[in-house]
Amino acid sequence: MRVLALTTQKGGSGKSTLAASLAVAAMQDGETVVALDTDQQASLLGWGRRREANGLDVQRVEPSAFAGTLKQLRGAGQVSLVIVDTPGRFGPDVALVLREASLCLLPVKPSILDVEAARPTVEQLRLLGRQFAFVLNQCNATTQARTLDAATALVSTGALAPSMVATRSDFLDSMTTGLGVTELAPKGKAAVEVRLLWQWIKAQLAGAKA
Ligand SMILES: Nc1ncnc2c1ncn2[C@@H]1O[C@H](COP(=O)(O)OP(=O)(O)OP(=O)(O)O)[C@@H](O)[C@H]1O
Ligand SMILES: [Mg+2]
Repeated sequence: MRVLALTTQKGGSGKSTLAASLAVAAMQDGETVVALDTDQQASLLGWGRRREANGLDVQRVEPSAFAGTLKQLRGAGQVSLVIVDTPGRFGPDVALVLREASLCLLPVKPSILDVEAARPTVEQLRLLGRQFAFVLNQCNATTQARTLDAATALVSTGALAPSMVATRSDFLDSMTTGLGVTELAPKGKAAVEVRLLWQWIKAQLAGAKA
């Protein structure tokens, strides 16, 4: 059972939005997924409650109970992938979650402020010895200049997912409807981006520490 954590201390980077659509894309790819929300804001849980489609378990878990929940899930032996959403801040409680992650995915918006704001998260992940990767999210779909600047800055710090995610209305609509973008508009550009991102993450998870 692999554990993918969405994390960054920067609010609004797209952790919850990508957690939801990645959970669906992974499920459609044959994974048995449980999505866990450790953020009191409970954005992912709210998405799960709006969700009427089947096949995905979304639960709220206190950070202090996270390791125990994973142990139970591992013991039951049914789940192949846990996707966990975390708050947009760091603290001892968030560390309890991140230390269990096989891979931490850091969504970053293509702006210098967001790139710089990712640094403290990277420092914490290095202290925790966690494997991590950035994904550029909320990129301009037509103009790539800022995206390329941000990509250049991020690759000097760590792995960067080669598939970037643009600002697209499908992501907003997915959160309203409780769907993943690959369910909402399977042939849409957002769906293509999320499928590519999931395939890249899957390959990283295959090489990650258990
Ligand atoms: N690729 C995208 N295209 C369009 N809107 C997006 C995209 N990614 C995120 N958003 C929107 O940006 C806002 C912030 O996203 P989200 O809540 O997922 O971020 P977050 O990192 O989980 O924030 P927080 O740290 O507050 O939990 C939301 O309104 C969301 O719908
Ligand atoms: Mg969130």
